[in-house]
Amino acid sequence: MVSISIKELLNKEPLSQEVTVNGWVKTFRSNRFIALNDGSTINNIQCVVDFEQFDEALLRQINTGAALTVKGTLVESQGKGQNVEIQVKDVTVHGGADPETYPIQPKKHSLEFLREKAHLRVRTNTFAAVMRVRSALSFAIHQYFRKNGFYYFHAPIITGSDAEGAGEMFRVTTLDGKNPPLDGNGNIDYKEDFFGKETNLTVSGQLEAEAYAMGLGKVYTFGPTFRAENSNTSRHLAEFWMIEPEMAFFDLDANMDLAEDFIKSVIKYILENCEDDLVFLEKRLLDEEKSKPQAERSEMALIDKLKFIVENRFKRLTYTEAIEILKNCKPNKKKKFQYIIEEWGADLQSEHERFLVEKHFKCPVILFDYPANIKAFYMRLNEDGKTVRAMDILFPGIGEIVGGSQREERLDILKEKMAALDIPEKELWWYLDLRKFGTAVHSGFGLGFERLVQFATGMGNIRDVIPFPRTPQNAEF
Ligand code: 4AD
Ligand code: MG
Repeated sequence: MVSISIKELLNKEPLSQEVTVNGWVKTFRSNRFIALNDGSTINNIQCVVDFEQFDEALLRQINTGAALTVKGTLVESQGKGQNVEIQVKDVTVHGGADPETYPIQPKKHSLEFLREKAHLRVRTNTFAAVMRVRSALSFAIHQYFRKNGFYYFHAPIITGSDAEGAGEMFRVTTLDGKNPPLDGNGNIDYKEDFFGKETNLTVSGQLEAEAYAMGLGKVYTFGPTFRAENSNTSRHLAEFWMIEPEMAFFDLDANMDLAEDFIKSVIKYILENCEDDLVFLEKRLLDEEKSKPQAERSEMALIDKLKFIVENRFKRLTYTEAIEILKNCKPNKKKKFQYIIEEWGADLQSEHERFLVEKHFKCPVILFDYPANIKAFYMRLNEDGKTVRAMDILFPGIGEIVGGSQREERLDILKEKMAALDIPEKELWWYLDLRKFGTAVHSGFGLGFERLVQFATGMGNIRDVIPFPRTPQNAEF
């Protein structure tokens, strides 16, 4: 069925021509006005029906949610808020949607309610807008790396290594027909998981990306990653998508420059290409915030926030400098930031990060040179022997959006570090090989894609920016 998309039709089609559009009914008012949407844009096309010319049984099927093909003439609209409408000549109903049972009715549904309807929620304006922005961001990401000389590298999903050394992995089990591998006592033998090997779903493609950067120079992965952390927060998923560039001959400064430029570039892309959706999401947020006390409302509207990111430099400081600031700041009266760090070496909690970003600097912050003992084994040790060349980018309202580092490229120091952390050399023999043969300074980072989509759309819960969220409670769909 060749038809024109509603987006194209609203943008530039001349009047008086015959058009065919497909879509789903948003509303049908007065047996006369169908608001039709096909997903191509947040905007609906109004289709005007002369009910006397149509069969009553047909009209009765035109309910919210029904799938239609509409044929008619494009004319100037008399209605408010739209330039054109379709004078309907013919309607085909492909599938109705019984108003008694179809859950997505034309009223405001809570996000919690819609999470239970993950297969239908994309038919609401909010989710359609979020998912279009998500798609645009993915495109912008690939485009950025392509323009900057990177190769797209596909890291394995099933792997034997724990890239972060944090042990938060989902194991892969071979069911071998129907039977799980059993040990002598009849218990599942996890050692026999993957055709005789212990494997898990990847927590990060970084280690493999390092191998590829050492041959292709600059690579990036963009794929699903998995964390078996049982955290029920609005920032954590068990399955999330991560963008991980890895660059040979980049030190930490070059890595931070790239990360900042990259984020600005993809945000700029959506500002230029997703205006209608961002305007809609901004309005939605403003409405939502009306119910909050003044102090909790954000100071900037969504689009201004995005522009602020593009136009302002991120603040860079070392972990040690951040600790000094946190030690010297007075606990705020409302006790929002009551846990002030006293010890150098402690990991920052999200309230410390929020204090630095939202209260102290009021802009994105890149913290670097963290204590070695709170960061992963692969990060490059500094001359001081106690900090590593790590960097985290902290964003307003989100917290950590990027984690990255310059990697330890010196074989002897990497081996010492692994020994100290009880990471067996035989598990990462291939990773050590990279340091034996043609090793070089190199760096990279990981950006949590859903956290970026959250920032870009203003959605408060990470479960609402991925089509089918995987969390400890939710893996049904
Ligand atoms: O800081 P992380 O754990 O770093 C790594 O995995 C490195 N190997 C990346 C690299 O250097 N190539 O994770 C990177 C980012 C975090 O900053 C956060 O944005 C996101 O991934 N992230 C999560 N997003 C959603 N749900 C979770 N459970 C996440 N865990 C990390
Ligand atoms: Mg991190």
